Amino acid sequence: METKVWRVNPKFPDPKAIAEAAEIIRKGGLVAFPTETVYGLGANALDETAVRKIFAAKERPAWDPIIVHICDLAMLEQLVEDVTDKLAELANRFMPGPLTVVMRKKPIVPDAVTAGLPTVAVRMPNHPVALALIKAAGVPIAAPSANKFGRPSPTTAEHVLQDLAGRIDGILDAGPTQVGVESTVIDLTKTPPVILRPGGVSKERLEEVLGEVIVESRPPSDVEAGLPSPGMMPRHYAPSVPVILANGSTSELEKVVGQLKSQGYEPSQIGVLMPEDWLTGEEGLVIFRWGRWGEWDEMAQKLFEGLRWLERQKVSVIVAPLPPPVGLGLAIRDRLTKASSSTNQASNCQGNSR
Ligand code: TXA
Ligand code: MG
Repeated sequence: METKVWRVNPKFPDPKAIAEAAEIIRKGGLVAFPTETVYGLGANALDETAVRKIFAAKERPAWDPIIVHICDLAMLEQLVEDVTDKLAELANRFMPGPLTVVMRKKPIVPDAVTAGLPTVAVRMPNHPVALALIKAAGVPIAAPSANKFGRPSPTTAEHVLQDLAGRIDGILDAGPTQVGVESTVIDLTKTPPVILRPGGVSKERLEEVLGEVIVESRPPSDVEAGLPSPGMMPRHYAPSVPVILANGSTSELEKVVGQLKSQGYEPSQIGVLMPEDWLTGEEGLVIFRWGRWGEWDEMAQKLFEGLRWLERQKVSVIVAPLPPPVGLGLAIRDRLTKASSSTNQASNCQGNSR
C-alpha cells in the first residue's frame, strides 16, 4: 500500500487534508497524526476490525491495550462508565493535554482496544491537527505511538515513515511534536491513583489535583554500575543499538565512555546523548546535543529524536546520562531505563567492538 503524506500547518491544518484523512478513518483505515507528545497511529476506536489493523502494522502483541483519543467531553462520557469527581477535576485541568486516564469502560469499547480489560485508557490530545481529525471523523480514535512495537516513539513524520511506510494509509505531517515523550497514564480505578507510565504531565502537577499518587514501581536496575540490568525489564523505546546509562553527572558519563574505550570501542562507534552544557573536548565521539542539563522539558522533547539520530549514524553503542526523578526527568528516566534494558551487550562487548 502507498502511504499518503499530507503536509499541514500545525495550527491551521488544511480542512481538505483533514477531511480526506477522516474519511479513511471512518472507512476503517489507518492514519498517523501528530499529537503534542508523539505521533499516533489512528483507527476508528469503535471498529474492531480497524483496530486490529493497528496491531498488524505495528507488529504489536494483542495483550497491549491502546489509548482512545477524544476531542470533547461528550466522547469521554461515551466511553467510560462513570465520570467521577476526580476524573472531572483532571479533565478540567489537563484535557486537552498529555494525560491519559484509565477508567472502567462501557461495552461500546471493543475488546481489541482494551486487550480484554474491563478498563479503557482515554486522552484528549492538545494538538489542533489531532483534535480536528477526531472531530471530522466523528468517532473516538484509538492510537498507540506510530512506531514499530518496541522502537523509540516518533516525534516527526519522518520517524513514522522510517517504521511504517507502506503499512499505513496516510500520515498528517505537521512537523516535530512539542512534548516529545508520551502522555502520563494514570489509573483512576485505584485509591490512591497509580501512575502506570510517567509522561508529559509530571507527578508533582497531578498531586496538586489528586493529593497522593503512587508511581508503579519497576524492578531495580543496576544504574549504579553504569550498566543495564539484562532481562529485568521489558524491551521498549529501544533503538537497534545498545543503550548504556550513566548516573547524572559529567564524571560518571566520562567513566562509562572510558570503560567502553577500554573494552575496545573506537570513539567513532560511541554515540552520546550529551547535555549541551557538558560539552568539552570529546574528540571523535558521535555527539547528539541534548539540550541543557536541568531543562527536563527540553531534554524530553529531544530524547527520541536523539536516540533515532544516533542510531542512524551507525554507532555501536549509545551512552546517556540519567536525569533525576523530578518533573519530566521521571519520564525521561523511565524511557531510558527501558531502552537500555534490552541491552546486555555491556558485558558481551569486552575486547570486542561489536
Ligand atoms: O502520548 C501518548 O500517550 C501517545 C500518543 C499517540 O497519544 N500514545 C501512546 O500509546 O503512547 P502507546 O500505545 O504507545 O502506549 C499506551 C500505554 C501502554 O503502555 C498501554 O499498556 C497503556 O497505555 N494502556 C492502554 N490502555 C490501558 C488500560 N486499559 N489499562 C492500563 N494501561 C493501559
Ligand atoms: Mg508506544
